[in-house]
Amino acid sequence: MDVEQIETAALAAAAAAADEQALDQVRVRFLGRKGEVTALLKGLGRLTPAERPAAGARINVAKGRVQAAIEARRNALGEEQLRRELASEAVDVTLPGRGGGGGSLHPITQTLRRIEEIFVVAGYDVVAGPEIEDDYHNFEALNIPAHHPARAMHDTLYLDNGLLLRTHTSPAQIRVMEQQQPPLRIICPGRVYRKDDVDASHSPMFHQVEGLVVAEGIAFADLKGTVVDFVHRFFEKEIGVRFRPSYFPFTEPSAEVDVRCVHCGGAGCRYCGYTGWSEVMGCGMVHPNVLANMGIDTERYTGFAFGFGADRLAALLYEIDDMRLLFDNEIRFLEQFA
Ligand code: PHE
Repeated sequence: MDVEQIETAALAAAAAAADEQALDQVRVRFLGRKGEVTALLKGLGRLTPAERPAAGARINVAKGRVQAAIEARRNALGEEQLRRELASEAVDVTLPGRGGGGGSLHPITQTLRRIEEIFVVAGYDVVAGPEIEDDYHNFEALNIPAHHPARAMHDTLYLDNGLLLRTHTSPAQIRVMEQQQPPLRIICPGRVYRKDDVDASHSPMFHQVEGLVVAEGIAFADLKGTVVDFVHRFFEKEIGVRFRPSYFPFTEPSAEVDVRCVHCGGAGCRYCGYTGWSEVMGCGMVHPNVLANMGIDTERYTGFAFGFGADRLAALLYEIDDMRLLFDNEIRFLEQFA
């Protein structure tokens, strides 16, 4: 076989090699130590010195072409391999994920935010107070001295060192008045604790929102207007509201506020104890003793305060008949508020 034929055969074989292994066989067959192109080079010795340069040059050209063809085929095979691998490992990043259910805010958190929004729009500041309180802020400064019978209204959970878990958010009133001078307009949402057994309407931990307004010329009418307006905004309808005379040591006069039972609309049912009303808050005019304790001039300033149960309001808003649902963390219940 002459150099032309060998070159043609080699280029065809290289182009046809199906994989790396086949290609290596082509290289050995033509360029290996006993390969066909190598044999041609070895055969140069049999030519005359005059023939040798031209024949040698031709064979080297053929050798270069075969090497280039093998190299080109190797690159092509590599690229094909890479394409196959990329195709088999392809990830569709546009596919929607599995099980991506998002979380949502707890109904009590949603209720607290709803309440805060209503008061913030009305110009109130939102403040926080500690859940671990001392006797002074939870009772004493609120006109409830030691042995005062009103302490029996609070089933207090006591800690060491005279500390306790606050039984209401009213100590926040004291903390605000310690820090700031009137005019004051704040609400304080937060957890409170009482030694209560759990049932459909009681929990040892629940949420209150305290409100305090102290300024010149504040009257009971301001309290009443504020509460009624709040209730209507909260329920987004003109739900019935009534004030009943009541007693708190830190307000005088004091009242409790009821709203129309959302379950029966006032006809009476087991949720409202057949009264047609649900109690939602305590309130009143800040007792002059409390203002005086805080060094506020009681001739110049008056104020009102209120404290309502946020869990109660949440239960009424969402028509939940058992408050335990609010604390059980049952996902099927919570999902309804997503
Ligand atoms: N702190 C009272 C309670 O927990 C509610 C209240 C707050 C009453 C403010 C009057 C004024 O029952």
